Amino acid sequence: MEQRLKELEQEAIQKVQTASSLKELNDVRVAYLGKKGPITEVLRGMGKLSAEERPKMGALVNEVREHISAEIETKQVALEEQAIQEKLAGETIDVTLPGRPVKVGNHHPLTRVVEEVEDLFISMGYEVAEGPEVETDYYNFEALNLPKGHPARDMQDSFYITEEMLLRTHTSPVQARTMEKHKGKGPVKIICPGKVYRRDSDDATHSHQFTQIEGLVIDRNIQMSDLKGTLNVFAKKMFGEEREIRLRPSFFPFTEPSVEMDISCKICGGSGCNVCKGTGWIEILGAGMVHPNVLEMAGFDPNEYTGFAFGMGPERIAMLKYGIEDIRQYYTNDIRLLRQFAVHE
Ligand code: PHE
Repeated sequence: MEQRLKELEQEAIQKVQTASSLKELNDVRVAYLGKKGPITEVLRGMGKLSAEERPKMGALVNEVREHISAEIETKQVALEEQAIQEKLAGETIDVTLPGRPVKVGNHHPLTRVVEEVEDLFISMGYEVAEGPEVETDYYNFEALNLPKGHPARDMQDSFYITEEMLLRTHTSPVQARTMEKHKGKGPVKIICPGKVYRRDSDDATHSHQFTQIEGLVIDRNIQMSDLKGTLNVFAKKMFGEEREIRLRPSFFPFTEPSVEMDISCKICGGSGCNVCKGTGWIEILGAGMVHPNVLEMAGFDPNEYTGFAFGMGPERIAMLKYGIEDIRQYYTNDIRLLRQFAVHE
C-alpha cells in the first residue's frame, strides 16, 4: 500500500510538472485528488489494515496529498505568470516606431487673400458686410445709377433668372443695400467679399463665376485724397512697401470721378516685363467717389455726405501674389496646387 502511494505520488508530480496549461493542471488535480481518484481509493482500502498501521497510513496519505497539492499550487503560479508574460509579449508597443503624420488641411489661396484684405481693412475700422448672390435688377443696376436701357449695362453680360432677378454681376449692390440700412446717417465703412457671376466663356483669364471685394466709405468731408491714401496703404500692405500706385481716369456709372488703380510691377520693379506687358504697371482695381445719384437713391443727402468706393478681384491679386497663371486653377481644386499654400501657423 505504501509502495502504491509512493508510485501515485511520483506519477502525479511528474504530470504536474509537464502540464503546459492551467486546464491540464486542473485535470491532474481532479484525476489524483478528486473523490474518484486513486488516492481516495487507497483510503478506502485502509479498513483492512490493523489498528496500529491505520494512523501511520492515514498520515502518509495526507502527506502525499499535501505534497501533490503544493506542487500543483507552485505550478499554477508559474503557469499564470507565464500566461501574463506571453500576453505582454504579444502586445508589445514599439515606442521607437515613427508616428503616422496627421494630414492638416490649409486655406484656399482665394480665402487667404480675402481674409488678408478683410484683416487689413478691419484694422482700419471697416466692418465686413454681406449681400445676396441672387440679386434684384434694382440693387445690381438701378440703385447704382444704371437705369434700364443704360448703355453701360452692356459692360456686364448677366445671368438673368427672371426679368427682375439675376445673379449679381459685382459686389456693388451691397453698397446700396448697406447705405439704405444706415437711413441717411453716416459714417459707413464696409468691406464686402463675395461671389459674382458674368456670362463669360471660361479661359485662362475669364471665369463665369469669380470673387470680388467691395469697399465703401461714406461720411462728411470724404475726398479723393482719402481714397488715394487708403488705396496706397492697401497696395503696400498687400504687395510690399516698395510698391507705388497710380490712378488712371476711368468710368463707372456709380462713381464720379472714377479711376482705375495700378501698382508698380513687382516682377520687374517697373522697368517692363511680360507680366506687366512692358508697361511697368499692373491694374488692380476700380474705384471712385460715390455718385451723388447713388447717395440720393440710398437715402443720403449728397450735400451733406460724400464717399468713395472700390472693387477688386481676389483672383487677380492671388495670381500676382502667388504666380498662379490660370484662373481655372482656383476652381478645379487640384490638391497638388492647394498643398502649395500650406501654412503652418
Ligand atoms: N463694380 C465694379 C466692377 O465690377 C468695380 C467698382 C467698384 C468700381 C466700386 C468702382 C467702385 O467692375
